[in-house]
Order: sequence, then C-alpha cells, then structure tokens
Amino acid sequence: MRLSVIGCGYLGAVHAAAMASVGHEVVGIDVDEAKVRSLAEGVAPFFEPGLQEILSEGIDSGRLSFTTDVAAAKGAQVHFIAVGTPQSKDSYAADLTYVNAAADALLPHLSDGDVVAGKSTVPVGTAAALASRIEQTGATLVWNPEFLREGWAVKDTIDPDRLVVGTESGAAGERAADILREVYHPAVTKGTPYIVTDLATAELVKVAANAFLATKISFINAMAEIAEVTGADVTQLADAIGHDERIGRRFLGAGIGFGGGCLPKDIRAFSARAEELGRGESVAFLREVDAINLRRRDRAIQLVIDALGGSVFKRNITVLGAAFKPHSDDIRDSPALHAAVQLRGLGAWVTVTDPAALDNARRLHPQLNYVDDRDEALRQADAVLVVTEWDEYRRQLDPVHAASLTAGKVVVDGRNCLGSTAWREAGWAYYGMGRR
Ligand code: UGA
Repeated sequence: MRLSVIGCGYLGAVHAAAMASVGHEVVGIDVDEAKVRSLAEGVAPFFEPGLQEILSEGIDSGRLSFTTDVAAAKGAQVHFIAVGTPQSKDSYAADLTYVNAAADALLPHLSDGDVVAGKSTVPVGTAAALASRIEQTGATLVWNPEFLREGWAVKDTIDPDRLVVGTESGAAGERAADILREVYHPAVTKGTPYIVTDLATAELVKVAANAFLATKISFINAMAEIAEVTGADVTQLADAIGHDERIGRRFLGAGIGFGGGCLPKDIRAFSARAEELGRGESVAFLREVDAINLRRRDRAIQLVIDALGGSVFKRNITVLGAAFKPHSDDIRDSPALHAAVQLRGLGAWVTVTDPAALDNARRLHPQLNYVDDRDEALRQADAVLVVTEWDEYRRQLDPVHAASLTAGKVVVDGRNCLGSTAWREAGWAYYGMGRR
C-alpha cells in the first residue's frame, strides 16, 4: 500500500522505515531539510537500534523515500501524522501547533477515500476537532496511537503489543479501520490484538498508558523515600511485591526517575486537559507523581554532596550517562543531564560520558566537560554518579578496574543498577537510591 508519514522524528522516521520494511511504499515528509537529506541518503539522523538497517534497506529497495515537499503525500492511501506535541512554553498543556500545521499542509493533497491516521500523542478531543476539516476532502480521520519505546522502537513498531484504532462511528469509520488493519497485516496475522474503538478512547489509551507507567515509577520512588528514613531496601521491596503477578516487577526500577520526551510532558498535558474538562481532581495525583519524580533528581545530587563531605565545590565528578535511558541518544528532559548541570552549578568539575548521547548533550550544555572514552572520563574522579544504566556501566565496568582510575572511591548509583556488594568489596563507598 502507498503510505505517507508526516513528521520524521523518533516516531515518524521509525514508522516510515518500519512500514517500508514490511512491504509498503512509503514517503516520509518533514520540514527539517537536514533531517530529510540524511534520511534520504539512508543515514539515520539519531541513534535507535535497528533503524539504520531498515532505513538502508528501504531506500535501496526504492520503497522508502523522504522529502520536504508535502505534495508528495498525494496518491498515498493512508497518511500518518507523527509530529511532536511538546509541552507548551507557558503552561502544562500540549502544544498542538505541529499537529495543526501538519493537518493544514496535508489538506490540499488529500483525495476522496484517503485515511488520515493520527499517531501523535494528543489531548483527548483533538481528533474530534480535526475530523470535520479532514472529512471535507472526502478523507477519513482515525486515531492510531503509538506505544513504541525508544531503544526498542523498531521492534515495537513492527511487532507491537497491541494496535489501537479510534474511528468515528459509521461506514467510513469501519472502512478506515479495515484499511489500517491491512497496513498492519503482518502484525495482525501474528495475533497482535487489534482494538477498534472511538476517537476519544484511542486518544485516552495512549495518555492513560503513559500516566500509568509514570505512576508506577513514582510509586516505587515514593517507597524509596520511605526506605531511606527506615533503613529498608527498595530494590528488595520491589522484587518482593513484583512477584505478585497483579503488580509485576517491570517499571518498578527505583532511582533518579523518569525523563525523556514523553512521560514527563504527557502527564502534565493530561492534568491540563483534565482541568479544561472540569475533571482536574480525577488526575490530581499526577501532580504528585511529577513531584516525586523531580525530588529524586534532587536526592541523587544530595547523595553526591553528602558523600563528598557536604560540598562538591571544585571536586571532580564523573557522570556515567547523559541519555534519559539506555539504547537511546535522546537527552530530552534527561535526569542524567539535569544532575550533571546542577552539580556544575554547585561548582563541581563535571565530566560526562555516554555511549550515544554526547553529541546531543554537547550542543545543549556546552558548559560540561565531555569525554567519549569511559575510562578516560573516570580518571581522577573524586566521585562517580551513574545515571543511565547502559551495559557499559552496569555490566561491563569492573569496580576494581574503576578504582584504579579514580582519585576517590565514592559511587552514587542513581539507577540502582550496579552490584553493590562487588563495588563495596572493591573498596568503594556505594550509595544507592532508597537502599541501605
Ligand atoms: C514511553 C512509553 O514507555 C512508551 O510506551 C510510549 O510509546 C512512549 O513513552 C511515548 O509516549 O512515545 P520512552 O519514553 O521511550 O517510552 O521510555 P520508557 O522506557 O517508558 O522510560 C521512560 C523513563 O522512565 C526513562 O527515563 C527510564 O529510565 C525511566 N524508568 C523506567 C525508571 O526510572 N524506572 C523504571 O522502572 C522504568
């Protein structure tokens, strides 16, 4: 099938390449000329495991192309809107500028019977507001939220947990849901649940899922705060409650908390939308989820200060990690960089290393010292702060070897990802989050 994808960021570029990899003919469209040039040359403009391979294959096969010209969308049967919905500059609400601009740009190129599928994360009600404009062209709007995780985006797109398609009631909606089922035929035939619902439910499924995940993380981080004043160990607590299948161990990783381009802004946008709807109290707990999360960043910084005897002024601190999570070069709202910047602000000499995110970090925070090589970065550190749980730090960093490089033997494990016993045995003062 011929598809267009409007917006070629983390979501759109992966979606375009993944759809080409399952056999569709896809044009990706973006206003960012540099990004389009890179994608058109078959070079992934950001780090995402597996993307480079499917991108090159797609370009070589002739099924995948990229352009800045939105007129290239004409002739596609399905048009995916995959632009960003960042937090507004002056409020917690989502900024819908890019969604509206994408829809406006697409309108003149739509034909009778086309399907426009919104993938962006939007406040509930956005699709209903867009639908009438789209339908004037004879096209049908559906909402098809995306649940991909960065670092697993290719797998999550080709082989998702579930597919959700929200439509308006009636024959056009049913036909559009059938067309989307055809687009996702390879996943559907494998047994992926294909849930057809209304527009509002589809929009809400996405924000509810992210709100739940954020709440789960902040729940365990709240337990970490209690553990810290009672001498309990939050990782053992998480293991123990996680054995209960109703709770489950995943997303009970206590530490410096969640960041990235999705969870933080999505819970805020959800609160803002609920308030507009007169139901602010229904999700008031999300404010607390946000507050707990931000407190954990302060806690990690305080642990470093305390471990260095009350001040980090002119002390050498090596921060292991810059990305908001491993297997990604994304530094949007990264707890790792937040900690690094704060420590620098307190007068520390901060060196940051990361296997993938240093170029992005350098551009955003030029005041920090960046070193590509992990061992070089560790040299002469008075304290080490682990904030992104890359295998390079979690599994591959031998504490005895690390001790031979640093000046001090203080490690703050902001992700509770190191083997505390091994680090202590190697002579380190080990500080975890919510741990003895
Ligand atoms: C999140 C959702 O997991 C995806 O399902 C969703 O599609 C995506 O947002 C989106 O809205 O586009 P992502 O932002 O890639 O995906 O990252 P997550 O894997 O959810 O991690 C978010 C943050 O939570 C990271 O900073 C991670 O380190 C942190 N985290 C995760 C914890 O602090 N503890 C945990 O136990 C798990």
